[in-house]
Amino acid sequence: MYIIVSASRTVTVIGTGVMGSAIARTLASAGHAVTVWNRTLARAETLRDAGAVVAGTLVEALESSEVIVMCVADHVAVDELMAVPGVAQVMSGRTLVQLTTGDAEDGRRGRQHADDGGFGFVVGAIIAYPRAVGTPQATILCAGQAAAFEACRELLSCLGDLQYAGEDPGLPGIIDGGLCSLLFATLVGFTHGAALAQQKGVHLDEFLRFARPYFRINLVEVLDETADRMQARNYGDTQSSVATSLNGLDNLVIALSQESGVDYEVMSAIKAVFQRAIDGGRGDEDVASLIEVFARG
Ligand SMILES: NC(=O)c1ccc[n+]([C@@H]2O[C@H](COP(=O)([O-])OP(=O)(O)OC[C@H]3O[C@@H](n4cnc5c(N)ncnc54)[C@H](OP(=O)(O)O)[C@@H]3O)[C@@H](O)[C@H]2O)c1
Repeated sequence: MYIIVSASRTVTVIGTGVMGSAIARTLASAGHAVTVWNRTLARAETLRDAGAVVAGTLVEALESSEVIVMCVADHVAVDELMAVPGVAQVMSGRTLVQLTTGDAEDGRRGRQHADDGGFGFVVGAIIAYPRAVGTPQATILCAGQAAAFEACRELLSCLGDLQYAGEDPGLPGIIDGGLCSLLFATLVGFTHGAALAQQKGVHLDEFLRFARPYFRINLVEVLDETADRMQARNYGDTQSSVATSLNGLDNLVIALSQESGVDYEVMSAIKAVFQRAIDGGRGDEDVASLIEVFARG
């Protein structure tokens, strides 16, 4: 946890699920006066032990602070909450820090709503698990009105590595989407590989012994090289071409999956992408050239 450095402020947290609770606890332990509200009140009650005040109604919660941090499941929930009678009136003149995960369109809609309603607006993507909130491992990537962000910067800084991407409220959603793509595809590959090993009678420990250095060398270190290639659109002189990679995927991963009864639907989808690259004449190119297949179909 961070040492308390910012002046004490009043702040309201709307939504006390796993992430909202982590945010509320962190703000409270940084010395701020926190009011919380949650649709299911019992879930907010647990934050009393952190010193939070539990508001009985949404409007009451909003009235308690100049800065409102919202972190609910999705933007359907956000729209429902913003449409509650009395919310528009009470929001006027306050600042909303919208930390509910959303895409670029949600961010831009939120900004428009704030401009129309006369309140400040900051949108942020939390690039972390709840347990990392309050540590430098949690990146909070914000955008929106520069003045609103500056007014909240010190307050929000206890949440983690606070970044400001600029006025465009669509940016956090776009970057978060790209990172989620990286995360989910990687975790799916990792768990699929583990399932293959397990089905073939290889102990998970044995698989992990090789997976860890493999990941570091073949994925983490290769990221920069792949990034450079994508930026320069330079896909020649490769260590492993699209065609070679497809062979490995076909003859090793898919064959082994079929043999051991492991679901390989996701690997077939990956195979289809490689095949499209080859059909488009990219068989001899570096795998970085898949960006062209994804971006241009
Ligand atoms: N958990 C993570 O690892 C993580 C990481 C980054 C970002 N996030 C984002 O953080 C946000 C919250 O996620 P979470 O992990 O805290 O999920 P969660 O534990 O499932 O909590 C969801 C929250 O949304 C509220 N909610 C859902 N529908 C609602 C509605 N129609 N009206 C009012 N409130 C509603 C829930 O209230 P009830 O208690 O009444 O159901 C609860 O407070 C999401 O946008 C998520 O993508 C989460």
